[in-house]
Amino acid sequence: MKKLLLVSLLIVALLLVANIASANGGPHGDYTATTDACAGCHRAHTAQGGKLLVASSSYNLCVSCHGSTATGANTNVEDGKFVSGRGGNEGTLTTNNVDLLGGGFATYKGVAVTSTHNPTGTETGAWGAGGLRGVTGTIDALDCASCHDPHGSGNYRLLKTTINGKGVAVTQSDEGAAKDYGTENWASDQSNVCGACHDPYQHASNYPGDPTFTHPVDQTTGYTPSFTDGAGTTVTVPLAGANDNFLVCQTCHLPHGTSVSMSGYAASAGPAGDSALLRENNRGVCQACHKK
Ligand code: HEC
Ligand code: HEC
Ligand code: HEC
Ligand code: HEC
Ligand code: HEC
Ligand code: HEC
Repeated sequence: MKKLLLVSLLIVALLLVANIASANGGPHGDYTATTDACAGCHRAHTAQGGKLLVASSSYNLCVSCHGSTATGANTNVEDGKFVSGRGGNEGTLTTNNVDLLGGGFATYKGVAVTSTHNPTGTETGAWGAGGLRGVTGTIDALDCASCHDPHGSGNYRLLKTTINGKGVAVTQSDEGAAKDYGTENWASDQSNVCGACHDPYQHASNYPGDPTFTHPVDQTTGYTPSFTDGAGTTVTVPLAGANDNFLVCQTCHLPHGTSVSMSGYAASAGPAGDSALLRENNRGVCQACHKK
């Protein structure tokens, strides 16, 4: 009996390993020696774009499957929605039409975006890159492949293991065969992807030579991150880590784009002068924890 239990435990363990090995999904990674996948994105002799891509740019390649009206992937990143039946093959834990965790590049929650990372390969200045907070420093032109590795990755969500020349570890969390694109389940190292380009934002006040102060990040918090005001408006922000109490960049920000609105004092605060990828209107993100 004990032996049987051990054998079944072993089988379960092997299945888990198999799931992790096939974590990447779609045409991304875990390639066999005679895979057909390369032909989904590359041509040997008649490529339309650099790096032998079938599309004219890596951005155009990504949105040919992940775009608004595309087929080939269920994750529609332009509208920030999971839409089943578009030919994708992952996300069996994800409810149809649920809002994606990354936000949107064109609309999000049905509203036009008010700020995004611009992934079209034209932006070369990132806030804080190699310098001070609030000032842009130079990076390689930003596109989808600046953050994601189309060939698969050991990191969560194909996030690259080297971004902007820096090693990045972002632990896989719900990366089994059945995925959930609708519920945050981040490990506490989730901020590392942002720190790769915006390094000083991930460091405490008085980062060497920086005259400004910054909100704490990458630490546990005792706050319940949800607040309902007298008018019944509730704002909530997500936390990371095994105990769901860890403050990361994505607690306040979305990585792709947001459709929230800024007015009054919040209208042009900060050097970006817009909604700065924030996940709640105005300073809702602050009230979620501090409840002033
Ligand atoms: C989902 C689309 C996609 C698939 C599938 C894909 N690639 Fe790529 N590949 C890209 C993109 C996009 C780039 C450019 C990445 C960049 O700009 O950083 C690239 C770059 C490359 C490069 C040059 C840069 C590097 O990473 O060394 C090689 C070599 C390469 N791919 C080989 C392959 C092979 C071999 C396969 C099949 C096993 C494959 N690719 C499958 C999208 C894809
Ligand atoms: C040929 C179609 C195709 C192309 C081109 C393509 N993808 Fe995908 N991608 C998929 C499919 C299918 C999935 C599985 C989830 C789904 O159905 O949306 C996926 C999943 C992903 C995921 C989520 C992986 C995870 O861990 O859950 C990311 C991130 C991603 N793709 C990024 C990219 C980027 C960046 C590019 C361009 C360099 C790209 N994709 C190009 C089809 C494609
Ligand atoms: C600045 C870095 C960055 C850029 C640029 C970026 N992504 Fe992402 N992407 C992320 C992060 C971080 C996540 C994980 C979101 C989460 O789970 O909280 C993600 C998630 C995803 C997912 C899974 C669905 C979701 O929204 O959670 C897909 C698919 C994807 N990205 C595709 C793309 C495509 C296609 C592009 C270009 C049009 C792109 N990404 C540009 C950082 C980036
Ligand atoms: C507690 C919420 C919160 C957290 C956590 C947070 N931010 Fe922000 N971030 C904001 C707000 C609010 C703004 C708008 C400008 C302001 O108030 O300074 C902003 C603006 C920005 C900007 C735009 C430039 C600027 O200075 O205004 C960048 C870049 C940025 N954040 C990066 C990051 C990175 C990287 C992390 C994690 C290391 C992070 N943020 C964590 C709230 C947050
Ligand atoms: C590959 C480099 C790179 C990474 C990684 C990266 N960023 Fe950025 N970020 C940029 C660049 C370039 C800009 C300015 C151009 C733009 O808006 O696309 C920017 C702009 C921003 C802005 C201001 C946007 C606006 O217009 O208001 C915020 C906020 C921000 N990033 C937060 C983050 C957060 C949070 C993460 C992690 C999820 C992150 N960034 C990861 C390169 C990066
Ligand atoms: C996820 C919860 C959370 C959110 C969201 C949040 N904070 Fe905080 N904040 C903290 C924690 C944790 C500290 C560390 C001190 C403490 O425990 O109160 C802190 C500290 C502070 C401090 C004191 C800083 C110092 O140097 O003494 C200020 C001021 C502050 N936050 C303002 C804000 C503002 C403004 C926002 C919105 C942009 C915000 N917080 C969003 C959790 C949060």
